[in-house]
Amino acid sequence: MNKRPVILVTGANGQLGMEFRDLESSFLNYQFIFVSRNELSIEDPEQVDRFFNSHVVDYCINCAAYTTVDKAESDIEAAFSGNATAPGYLAKAAAKQGAAFFHFSTDYVFNGNGTQPYSETLPTDPVNVYGESKRDGEERVRDNHPKAVIIRTSWVYSRFGKNFVKTMLRLMHEKPEISVVNDQLGSPTYARDLAAAVMHIVQTHTPAQIIPGTYHFANQGIISWYDFALAIKEIAGLGCRVNPVPSSSYPTPAKRPSYSGLNTNKIREIYQVEIPEWKNSLRECIQLLLKER
Ligand SMILES: NC(=O)c1ccc[n+]([C@@H]2O[C@H](COP(=O)([O-])OP(=O)(O)OC[C@H]3O[C@@H](n4cnc5c(N)ncnc54)[C@H](OP(=O)(O)O)[C@@H]3O)[C@@H](O)[C@H]2O)c1
Repeated sequence: MNKRPVILVTGANGQLGMEFRDLESSFLNYQFIFVSRNELSIEDPEQVDRFFNSHVVDYCINCAAYTTVDKAESDIEAAFSGNATAPGYLAKAAAKQGAAFFHFSTDYVFNGNGTQPYSETLPTDPVNVYGESKRDGEERVRDNHPKAVIIRTSWVYSRFGKNFVKTMLRLMHEKPEISVVNDQLGSPTYARDLAAAVMHIVQTHTPAQIIPGTYHFANQGIISWYDFALAIKEIAGLGCRVNPVPSSSYPTPAKRPSYSGLNTNKIREIYQVEIPEWKNSLRECIQLLLKER
């Protein structure tokens, strides 16, 4: 029997990492190695090299990142270390071993002044530290791994970890009314759909067949956070009143792009990835969350 290809998932306790863990039982022809920050900190180049010297990896999927957007404004060094320098170390070690490398970036690499979904070829111009650190990370990954696949995604939620959907469900249970911004537009992304898309690519491409590049992946449809909150309320059948407010009435340390729709044609065409419509995926996630209550 042939050896099963090995998939290393870093940052495996985050939203996306947990979705890969959840998918493991559907991909028994692969051997998964899941490592959380405690087991492998990608910020430590010696630890990264030691890991790769003692494991054979066919696909490395980097789910580790510094994701607290507002905190990044005052924690610049940590944001750049986790999102830029560290992915560079991992990409280098993966490349040395000939492992395929998947890395995730963000819609926040764009300035948000656009009005049409951003394609991969448009110039980046982040408006906050998180976006800058992620853009720097993309460059380090490209520099260190000639065949890296960088997938920019947006507004990620899951039944795991902390996210907008879980926060809204909690607030809508606790409060009679809440206010949500209606002047930032983008696409929610169910982390499970993203993990499934990566597994589709893995299943259909050996490491040598991977088509490197930058790709956009987000669920289909562009909405505001207010629309997103209304849909959460409707699907969960909650009575809380949701009021639309402008971003100016909800100041945050980090500036957000006002429009960050992503054009996903490239990943759909090159990798034949099917991307579900945002509300169908939201429904699926909320049903799982309600079952867990
Ligand atoms: N969340 C979003 O809305 C969003 C939007 C666009 C793009 N993305 C990108 O999508 C990817 C997945 O995001 P996510 O939502 O799954 O993030 P997440 O839930 O915050 O998970 C990130 C994980 O990385 C771990 N981590 C941080 N630093 C690490 C290090 N030095 N070594 C190893 N692990 C480390 C974290 O561990 P600790 O908890 O211990 O720190 C956490 O478990 C990231 O690249 C992110 O930038 C996310």
